[in-house]
Amino acid sequence: MDAKARVSQLRDEVERHAYLYYVLDSPEISDSEYDKLFRELQDLEAEHPELWTPDSPSNRVGGKPVQGFTQHRHAVPMLSLDNAFNHEELRAFDDRAKRLLGVEGPIEYFAELKFDGASISLTYVDGVLQLGATRGDGTTGENVTQNAKTLRGVPLRLRESLPGELEARGEVVMLRSVFEELNRIRASRSEQLFANPRNAAAGGLRQLDSKLTAQRKLNFFAYGVGLVRIGERTLADTQAGILQTLKRLGFAVRDEPRVLHGIDEVIEYVGHAGSIRGSLPFGIDGVVVKVNSLAQQEDLGFTARGPRWAIAFKFPAEQAFTKLNRVFPQVGRTGNVTPVADLEPVSVAGVIVARATLHNYQEVRRKDVREGDVVIVQRAGNVIPEVVGPVLDKRAEGLTPPEEPTHCPECNAELVHVGGEIALRCPNKACPAQIEAKIAHFVSRKAMDIDGFGPKLIRRLLEVGYLTDLPSLYRLKDRRDAMVEMDRLGDQSVAKILENIELSKHRPLDKFLFGLGIRFLGERGAQELAAHFRTLEQIRSVDYDHFLEVNDVGPRTARELQEWFEEEANQQMLDDFRVVGVVPTEAAAPEGDTFAGSTLVFTGKLEKFTREDAEQLVMKLGGKAAGSVSKATTYLVAGPGAGSKLAKAESLGVPVLTEDEFLRMLPEGSL
Ligand code: IVH
Repeated sequence: MDAKARVSQLRDEVERHAYLYYVLDSPEISDSEYDKLFRELQDLEAEHPELWTPDSPSNRVGGKPVQGFTQHRHAVPMLSLDNAFNHEELRAFDDRAKRLLGVEGPIEYFAELKFDGASISLTYVDGVLQLGATRGDGTTGENVTQNAKTLRGVPLRLRESLPGELEARGEVVMLRSVFEELNRIRASRSEQLFANPRNAAAGGLRQLDSKLTAQRKLNFFAYGVGLVRIGERTLADTQAGILQTLKRLGFAVRDEPRVLHGIDEVIEYVGHAGSIRGSLPFGIDGVVVKVNSLAQQEDLGFTARGPRWAIAFKFPAEQAFTKLNRVFPQVGRTGNVTPVADLEPVSVAGVIVARATLHNYQEVRRKDVREGDVVIVQRAGNVIPEVVGPVLDKRAEGLTPPEEPTHCPECNAELVHVGGEIALRCPNKACPAQIEAKIAHFVSRKAMDIDGFGPKLIRRLLEVGYLTDLPSLYRLKDRRDAMVEMDRLGDQSVAKILENIELSKHRPLDKFLFGLGIRFLGERGAQELAAHFRTLEQIRSVDYDHFLEVNDVGPRTARELQEWFEEEANQQMLDDFRVVGVVPTEAAAPEGDTFAGSTLVFTGKLEKFTREDAEQLVMKLGGKAAGSVSKATTYLVAGPGAGSKLAKAESLGVPVLTEDEFLRMLPEGSL
């Protein structure tokens, strides 16, 4: 085969695999096989410069840097959208659309994720990418064509023949995983970190050197079209159809969008999108609701600001600015001492945040945050709030970095770095702060669920010596009168607290195990451990190899479990629990084997169960319930509003059941 033919063949292959990987999310070859093909193409093109074309995938790694960007005037302006911040505003949008369209019944909507990135316009002439432009002010943007070629999910040549001109539009985002990886690298080089994926994406798109854009590994997701000049043909007659067409043409299009009937379904979808927000691989800042029919869109038309046929429902921002008042060390339940930021209270993602973690003192130094700084605070997904970094422009003079403590702020023991770890630790097992944190964890809802036992009370009872360790909780009933006298507690509330403590004596074994606060043993691990060994006695009698047999317990957790149960003080504590009458309820033996060897995942809205009940039922019938879909998943049970888990199951070929189908699998009488 001559070079020309091979180059052409390699281009097709490389583009097909990029499409399989970034658009269909189902690669056929390994990364290294892909790299091999890519390198062969690059080498051949280097030998034969005359074979270069603008749509060769070798352009994806970037080309020669440019001096500056030229301006590009958009043929169709890139408008922005009106926002809705609550359900009433969505209903008002719906009412207006109905009025203007003169319809009574529900409008058909198409709801999409609102990607949190930077928008881009991509123009194809006769199927080949000719131009990429940023949004700019909506009328004029910048020509960033070289950079656009590096985006994952952007075809350099459309996958179907399309004579004429097509402008695809969408958002450029940086995946969270990429963001974290790049920030890790930046941290190791003591470089300034990206504050968030959006800035990293928007900045990446505007690099003069497209090789730098390529290094940011940005993704593109299509959400619509601009100018379309394809003769008599049309792309589709609904927004849903447009996205389908774009996907066929080779653009990355997400699977989460839904056709919905009426605003009530839209409101439900918005709630669903909020619930999957934290588990998506990229950031979203809301949901874009579009009238699905293009004819109706045309009837509704535009205002000066934007379309009357679409609205953006905005989620609360995941980042905010506030003042850092103080950095103080906090001692956790395993003795780890972490720097905590005391902040001027600020609302982040809908919650008031006054404290945020700074992880460790190395981070404090690297981020260079100082008391008195204005800082960016973040609360992404369900993770605890953290300080991202200082806003250097706003730094007052004379601020000094906080110092790493040398002694425990609570018991004054000398702090240590265990085995070269970054984490700073208080080695004193009797440190009151550690005991306090252990007790707080033990009484928490997901563990022993002792209601009314807040941090203030724990602290107070530790101070007066009524609490000394976990089992001492169950001796508080002997201190009833003294507690009533204490700090205006009152008879009734003491009675209630003591009652709750009594009730917890027979909590299920897994909750008790989780409450012990053993390192690496999370809620699921505790469930597996309880289901496997059934009783605490059994668990106390086994060792490393037996722990390893438990589902989901790997070598690290098994070692930790072995060490924990070997420690004399812990054995003593478990004996003590028995003395005070704590006898966790044994994990029930499976009542059937319907799901033996199966792992089920539940997603979306279930009508007949809570998710927790459904999972309990699966375990009762010998199966496993997991939180995320993988190759090991036997069934995904998906209710209305299912999103990314459903898409993942479909792409992995995991069978998907409706709630009714799941119900039909249950043996009679198991409900
Ligand atoms: S449609 C005329 N769909 O949000 C309608 N926009 O304020 C144009 N965005 O600048 C926008 N995800 O960059 C649309 N699924 C989505 C979107 C989306 C993110 C951005 C877009 C635009 C802004 C609208």
